[in-house]
Amino acid sequence: MIFRQLFDTDSSTLTYLLADGQGIAVIIDPVLEHVETYLSLLDSLKLALRWVLDTHIHADHITGARAIKERTGATTAIAGNCEATGYDRQLADGEMLAFGNESIRIIATPGHTSESLCYLWRDRLFTGDTLMIGACGRTDFQNGSSTEMYHSITQKLFVLPEETLVYPCHDYKGRRVSCIGEEKVLNARIAGKTLDEFVRIMDNLNLAPPKRIHEAVPANLLGGGSPEARQN
Ligand code: FE2
Repeated sequence: MIFRQLFDTDSSTLTYLLADGQGIAVIIDPVLEHVETYLSLLDSLKLALRWVLDTHIHADHITGARAIKERTGATTAIAGNCEATGYDRQLADGEMLAFGNESIRIIATPGHTSESLCYLWRDRLFTGDTLMIGACGRTDFQNGSSTEMYHSITQKLFVLPEETLVYPCHDYKGRRVSCIGEEKVLNARIAGKTLDEFVRIMDNLNLAPPKRIHEAVPANLLGGGSPEARQN
């Protein structure tokens, strides 16, 4: 088994590389600017890439999914309930995605965006912008819903074993991993909160829009890269 966590300082994005014992690999939430780094890592670790997964349509960075696919032949995938046309596979809640002799469970967790997924592999949960360390993703655009977010986190993630490791897509404070048990008790936005309390917190975040949203979302609907490049 191989497991690596990579970090993009511009967008504070965390990307994950995992592989089974036979060298069959998966990348989760790659950033376009780091594709060459991922490819050299795959090469140096002698890995064959099977899947490139995005947890959702990102608004703050452009995914490297399509660029990696073009260089490796890996299959790209995202949730089926969205308008992203640039992916090979559309994933559904409860589906098991095989790679080598391992598998990843797809957990649909709408809230941050309507198509947000979490990926469960062994004892590791890749939460995208759904459950973050001490926080959760915003719910004020891309069909976000704080009510759905509350139900996704409390009914689909907090029911997992407490020792399940939580690996988010972003952290802005230098943290890199948490676990379900810790988030159930310490998460500032949702631990011990009622639905009404949570919705009130989310309604009052008053966050500025992500800087690259107008560039990132159209590109990411196409699986990453520029829309112009897609037309060529
Ligand atoms: Fe996001």
